[in-house]
Amino acid sequence: MSDDYLKRILTSKVYDVAHETPLDLAPRISKRIGNTVLLKREDTQPVFSFKLRGAYNKMAHLTPEELKRGVIAASAGNHAQGVALSANRLKCRAVIVMPVTTPQVKIDAVRALGGEVVLFGDSFTDAAEHAAEMQARDGLTFVHPFDDPDVIAGQGTIGMEILRQHPGDIDAVFVAIGGGGLISGVAAYIKQLRPEIQVIGVQTVDSDAMVRSVKAGRRLRLADVGLFSDGTAVKQVGQETFRLVKEYVDDFVTVDTDAICAGIKDVFQDTRSVLEPAGALALAGAKRYAAQQKWKGKTLVVITCGANMNFDRLRFVAERADVGEAREALFAITLPEKRGSFRRLCEAVGSRSVTEFNYRISDSESAHVYVGLQIRSEPEIEKLANHFRKEGFPTLDLTGNEMAKTHLRYMVGGHSGLAQHEVLYRFEFPERPGALMKFLGAMNPEWNISLFHYRNQGDDYGRILVGIQVPPEDKKIFKEFLSTLGYPYWSETDNPAYRLFL
Ligand SMILES: Cc1ncc(COP(=O)(O)O)c(C=O)c1O
Repeated sequence: MSDDYLKRILTSKVYDVAHETPLDLAPRISKRIGNTVLLKREDTQPVFSFKLRGAYNKMAHLTPEELKRGVIAASAGNHAQGVALSANRLKCRAVIVMPVTTPQVKIDAVRALGGEVVLFGDSFTDAAEHAAEMQARDGLTFVHPFDDPDVIAGQGTIGMEILRQHPGDIDAVFVAIGGGGLISGVAAYIKQLRPEIQVIGVQTVDSDAMVRSVKAGRRLRLADVGLFSDGTAVKQVGQETFRLVKEYVDDFVTVDTDAICAGIKDVFQDTRSVLEPAGALALAGAKRYAAQQKWKGKTLVVITCGANMNFDRLRFVAERADVGEAREALFAITLPEKRGSFRRLCEAVGSRSVTEFNYRISDSESAHVYVGLQIRSEPEIEKLANHFRKEGFPTLDLTGNEMAKTHLRYMVGGHSGLAQHEVLYRFEFPERPGALMKFLGAMNPEWNISLFHYRNQGDDYGRILVGIQVPPEDKKIFKEFLSTLGYPYWSETDNPAYRLFL
C-alpha cells in the first residue's frame, strides 16, 4: 500500500495547475528560536493554498465520460477554489455546494474561476448532504477534500519537492492537520525515502480530531470545533488519512489562537506575506514543539499552506499577536485630580511606545487612565507597574484581564448614577452572520439592560459585555435565567477594572 503511494505521488499530475513552490529560509524566526526554519511556501500557489494539487490530481485521473458529466464538492474554503480551478483547466463542469451563510467573497472567488455555486443549508453538514443527493441524481463525481488516495497523492507532491529542494539534514517537518490529506501524502512520501526525518502534525487546541482519534485508537467525531483556523476545522478525520497518519506521523502538537496570530506576524516579518490562520498553524506548532523539546541548531521545515485571509480579521490577528508574544502591557493608572498630575504621568511614561491612552475625569478626587505600552518581554510588565507606583500613581496590571482587553478598551462613558443594582456579565457565542441577533433574542430578560458592548473583532466567537439591573430579590431567578441561556458566561461584577472605569 505504501509503495503504491510512492508511485502515485511520483506519477501525480499536479504541475498543469500547481507550481513547485519555494523552500525559503526564514532568517528572523530562525534566529529567534535558535533553529533553522525553512518555509515551504504553499501560500504562493495560484489559489493561495496547496489544495489545488489534490483536487487536480483526482480530477485528472477521471475518465473522459466522468469528466463530461462533471464533478461536485461541498466546501466554502480552499478546496472549493482548488476544484473550480482544476475544472476550469480540464474544461469540465464543477458544482460547489456551500452553506447559505458563506461570505460573498468566497462565492465570488469560485464563480470567477467558472464554478457553479449552489447555496444550501446553514451548516457545512447540510451542504455536504445536499451535494451527495445532487451527485447521485446528476451522475457527478464527488471530489473529497481529503479522504481519497488521489487527493492524498496530489498533496504528497509537496513532500517530494521538499526532499528534492533540501537534500541536506532535515530534523523535522511540521504540517497542519484538518481532515489529514496533506499530512498523509507528505508523510507517506518522506517516510519511504528519509524515515529519519520526524513528521509532526499540528492542530488547534479546540479542533483536534486527529490528535484525539490517534490517542483513542479510533476515529472520533467531535461535537464542536473552533472555527478560527477555518481551513482545519474538521469534526471527523478521514478513514484512509487516519490509517496513514497512525502509520507514518511521529508526533503531534496543539496550539491556541494567540499562538497562531503570533505565527502570522512572524511570517509577515520574514516574508511580507500574510497567511491565513490554518496557513500559520504549522509554524505556531514548530515554535511550541521546539521550545518543549528544548531543540537548538535543528533544521525544521514548516509548510505554510494557505493565505486566504479575510481582510477584516487582520485587526484581531494584529492585536492577539502582541498578546501571544507578550509585546503589550495594559494598566489602569490612578491620577490624583490636581493640577499637573496628567503631565507628570506623561513624564513617567517617557519615550516608551504607547498603544493606548484613554482618560476621562471621574470625580473631584481622582481619575483613571487606561494605558497600553509596548514591551519586549513579560518581566517588563511588573517593572513598569512598580515604576508608576514609585512615581505616586496607584497602578493595576490589566494585561491578563480578558474583559479589559476585549471590551473596556473600546468603551466610553464612565460611571452612571442611574445604573442601580447593576451586575456585569461577559458572554461568548459562536460567530456567524445573524448570531448577534439570535443571542439578543435569547436574552429577553425582564431586567433593564444598563450597559452593552459588542464589537465584531473578526474572531470565531462573538464576545459581549452586558450590564443588567437585577434587584436583590431577583438574584435567584436571574441565576436560573443565566443557566438556561446555553452560552458560556463569566461574572465581571467584581472585576477591579469595572469598578475603576464603568
Ligand atoms: C490552508 C489549509 N491548511 C490546512 C488544511 C488541512 O488540510 P487537510 O484537510 O488535508 O488536513 C486545509 C484544508 O482545506 C487548508 O485549506
